[in-house]
Amino acid sequence: MRTKIKDILQKEEFDYKVNVKGWVRSFRNNQFIALNDGSCIGNIQVVIGLDTDETILKKINTGASVSVDGMVIASQGKGQKVEIKADSIIILGECDPEQFPLQLKNRPSLEYLREIAHLRFRTNTFGAIFRIRHTLAYAVHKFYNDRGFVYLHTPIITASDAEGAGEMFNVSTLPAGNPPRNEDGSIDYKEDFFGRCTNLTVSGQLEAELGAMALSEVYTFGPTFRAENSNTARHLAEFWMIEPEVAFNDIHDNMDLAEDFIQYVIRYTLENNREDLEFLAQRLADEEKQKPMADRSELGLLEKLDVVLNNKFERITYTDAINILLDSPTYKKKKFKYDVKWGIDLQSEHERYLVEKHFKKPVIVTGYPKDIKAFYMRQNDDGTTVAAMDILVPGIGELVGGSQREERLDKLTQRMSEMHIPAEEMYWYLDTRRFGTVPHAGFGLGFERLVLFVTGMTNIRDVIPFPRTPKSADF
Ligand code: 4AD
Ligand code: MG
Repeated sequence: MRTKIKDILQKEEFDYKVNVKGWVRSFRNNQFIALNDGSCIGNIQVVIGLDTDETILKKINTGASVSVDGMVIASQGKGQKVEIKADSIIILGECDPEQFPLQLKNRPSLEYLREIAHLRFRTNTFGAIFRIRHTLAYAVHKFYNDRGFVYLHTPIITASDAEGAGEMFNVSTLPAGNPPRNEDGSIDYKEDFFGRCTNLTVSGQLEAELGAMALSEVYTFGPTFRAENSNTARHLAEFWMIEPEVAFNDIHDNMDLAEDFIQYVIRYTLENNREDLEFLAQRLADEEKQKPMADRSELGLLEKLDVVLNNKFERITYTDAINILLDSPTYKKKKFKYDVKWGIDLQSEHERYLVEKHFKKPVIVTGYPKDIKAFYMRQNDDGTTVAAMDILVPGIGELVGGSQREERLDKLTQRMSEMHIPAEEMYWYLDTRRFGTVPHAGFGLGFERLVLFVTGMTNIRDVIPFPRTPKSADF
């Protein structure tokens, strides 16, 4: 029976026999193997006998996989409390050092590791990131389960464009080169697999709303797809989103839920992935040292997470946000790239000014102009703004987008027609407003942006195993 390295390191007990299996991280003096099996960031030191066969010794290279039987003993050397004195070692898989692209001695760059994403799990950094990603995903389900929410699986293939932004991937089995056409030359989707034009979903919200209108509290957690051509460090074409939707909640309840949720998953990760977080904190600190003084961040990773846990999020209106930006030295010195005036969609530089320079903590912005937000958001009495909320966090900008929903049938259909959204096709959505409508609210949290925030990584491609971005879908 194989024992996980994590269990051996945690127990700190001696003088018992184990079998361990893993990958060689390093081998020195023909005697000491640093072995890792991914169960934790730490390696176990395996000490092999001086009489080990020459043919085996030659195969103990970085990257090779081995199985070791031996005795756990108190370590003689410094750096570890326990080690394994090997009785026998079997090479499971050889690894030619001349060909292995991952030599861990000189720290490979993140850019290089992206090109070998199939192997990057073998590094300390990516091991830590993907263990943390797992913990966060588990904490998401635990948070909602403990509060009685129902996990709803919303469809991945859909005929609706929830966000109305039109940035969708078409799903079709028609021959791409020669699709059947209508008389006017447009593609005849009646001939297509679903008998209509379908796409990959950009959000599960509209279907989640249908569920909430009976189950009261639901959430989705699934992949979403956006064909927006923004090649930034914060955008993916395929990303995971968590979308709770709650009947009877208003915008204030919605903000409370989102704040509790974010604090909960961060706290859970701090409690369960301490070692990984400490490793990433050190990694970030080393990286900061390479930067000029002025660009260095004031807080380390763990302090940054503590700020989120120990402070109420600032709640401001969009109008307040615009006024703060107009008053800022950055604006006055014309240092923003994009102009600031009431009515603009806040750009990432504006969001980051608010959270990083002005408030120095997460900020919830509400009451956006209706013209820059989706049709389903509840219209405020002023006639110009909607009950939208975005949550902005340091280093990331927008982490959450959500709103109270328009539950009044007449207001909703009027807004849809203004925005040229076909009401007939959306009959199913409008039915919830026809039959027992209630106030309700929800939001979407971008899972990779959360992982970015918690791990202190700076490029979203480094927190999803196999990123999909414009012109890139390897692996
Ligand atoms: O603000 P968004 O577009 O909101 C919605 O989709 C709503 N239907 C959510 C809801 O109310 N149920 O997206 C929500 C979040 C953003 O705040 C951001 O964190 C993330 O999803 N996001 C992306 N993450 C990675 N790559 C992209 N291209 C993203 N687009 C949005
Ligand atoms: Mg948004």
